This record gives sequence, structure tokens and C-alpha cells, in this order.
Amino acid sequence: MREKLEQIRNEALKRIEEAGALDVLNDVRVSFLGKKGALTAVLKGMKDVAPEDRPKVGQLVNETREEIERVLDEARKKMEQIIREQQMKAEVIDVTLPAEKRVLGHRHPNTIALEEVERIFIGMGYEVVEGPEVEKDYYNFEVLNIPADHPARDEQDTFYVNDKILLRTQTSPVQARVMEQGRLPIRMIAPGRVFRSDEVDATHSPSFHQIEGLVVDKNITLADLKGTLAEFAKEMFGADTKVKFRPHHFPFTEPSAEMDMSCFKCKGAGCRFCKGSGWIEILGCGMVHPRVFEMCGIDPKEYTGFAFGMGLERISLLKYEIDDMRLLYENDVRFLKQF
Ligand code: DAH
Repeated sequence: MREKLEQIRNEALKRIEEAGALDVLNDVRVSFLGKKGALTAVLKGMKDVAPEDRPKVGQLVNETREEIERVLDEARKKMEQIIREQQMKAEVIDVTLPAEKRVLGHRHPNTIALEEVERIFIGMGYEVVEGPEVEKDYYNFEVLNIPADHPARDEQDTFYVNDKILLRTQTSPVQARVMEQGRLPIRMIAPGRVFRSDEVDATHSPSFHQIEGLVVDKNITLADLKGTLAEFAKEMFGADTKVKFRPHHFPFTEPSAEMDMSCFKCKGAGCRFCKGSGWIEILGCGMVHPRVFEMCGIDPKEYTGFAFGMGLERISLLKYEIDDMRLLYENDVRFLKQF
């Protein structure tokens, strides 16, 4: 029996020494110490041992088991240590490698221009509000004094969701939405996306942005409109910017005008930016039509107001001297990061 145990022990130690991986060690453990292992088999053979020899043999079996366990344990620890060291070596960080560049985003020229417009009007006490892009025909046209058969609808052909709901063609509906709430006086701008079924070219896109403005209070006059917009143009395009107003027609303002500003590039002498005229058209404006006031529940005998609307893209194209609107929508970072 002693020889048998000796043999098991030697065999086990030999296999432990030869083992090159943790799972091989585990196999060794199972085949010597496991339920069906060699040592367990010896214990099962105890019944054939003379009773007086059993304690002695039992002790020998235990000693053998303990030794195999101890050697197994040491081998496992040593192996784990080696594996850890190898891992550390493989994962070493080379601090001299150039760092991966962080690509920071960049504000879009439209965003930069809009923030500038907002800054100017907020400085004059205006609030910035927003309205829905999917709008009711009522707000987009009807309440703005553009009934179903009005020719102005043709100029602003749009995308209809159904015959009462459409993608707004202008930010002017926000005027009505704000006036309806009945909180007076009003001093607001409303920037946002608008839609028209236009073909894409250098100056058109089916989706673009406008900034609407509205002031309603007692005793607001055309002089307020002129002063405010002249001030805006100076802040936005330079202190020497001049403005002029040309009579125009918008259904929701009366009188209505288009505002031109002196060309910021040639200062009025004439160049390719202003197509030789010295002036650049920049926005539409006018005094709020009494009928619009009435439809929005405001008494036009008590209150007057002015409104204006401008294209955001037009402003960023001018301000950053971009000659093709499509560049604004392509999101090419080489283009965007210039501003
Ligand atoms: N909504 C007009 C357009 O898209 C622009 C406009 C003109 C807005 C005059 C106004 C305004 O508020 O008073 O062509």
C-alpha cells in the first residue's frame, strides 16, 4: 500500500511539473484527488486492509493528498504569476506615441449668424420664441390675411400633410400664435425652419430658416420699425451700414416694405455682391394689419405693432461671403470649420 501511494505521489508530482497551462493542472487535480481519482480509489480499497493497519494507511493517504494539494497550489500560483507578467508586458502603454486627435465639433454658420441676431434683439429687450414646423393652414395663411384663394399662396407653395395641415412656409404664423395668447405688450423674435416646394439651386432650398419679429404695444409707429431695423443692420453688418425701405405688399402688414441695406462689401459703390446696385435686400416688414389684430383678439384701435421677417441663410451667406447656399447643407467639415 505504501508503495502504491508512493507511486501515485510521484506520478502526480511529475504531471504537475510537466503541466504547461492552468487547465492541465486542473486535469491533474481531478485525476488524482477527484471523486474518481487515484487517491479516492485507494481509500475505497481500505476495506481490504487489516483493521490494525488502517489508521496508519489512512494517515499515509492523507499525507499524500496534502502534499499533492500543496504542490498543485504552488504550481497554480506560479503559473498565474507568469501569466500576469506576460499580460503586463503585452499591454504596456507607449506614452511616446502621438495621442489620438480629438475632433471637436464646430458651430454651423447658420447657428453663428442666428446667435448673433438673437444677441442683438435680446439686447433690445426681445424674447426668443418658437412655433411648430408642422403647422395648421389657419396659422400659416388664414389668420395672416391670406385666404384660400389669395395669390400669395402660389408664391409659397408648400408640402401639405392634409388639406388643413402643412409644413409652414414662413415663421409668420408664430406672430399669430403669440398674439392669441393675449399677453401684451409683445416684443419677440421667432427663428425656425420653414419649407417651400422649391428646386435646389445656389439660392433656393425646399427647407431653409427664417427669423420673424413682432412688436405690439400702444403707440408703436413706423418710426419704431425703421429705428429698430436700422439699428439691427448696423449691429449685424457694421456701424456704417445704411438702410432704405421700398414699398412692398404683404397681406398681413399695412403698409408693408422691403428693407435694403447698403452693401457691406463695396459700401454702396456697386460690386458683385450687390449686383452693382450698392444695395442688398435683407428683409420684409410692415405695420401689423388691423385685420390680423382682430383675428388674434387684439383691438387695433388700442394697439399697433410692427413685424418683420428675414431669411437666416441669406444673412449667413452675406455675412460670411458664401456664394452657394448648398454649401450650408452639405456638412462638409472642411467648409464648416472656416467660420
Ligand atoms: N413671411 C414673409 C415671407 O416669408 C416675410 C415677412 C414679411 C415677414 C413682412 C413679416 C413681415 O413679419 O412683416 O416672405
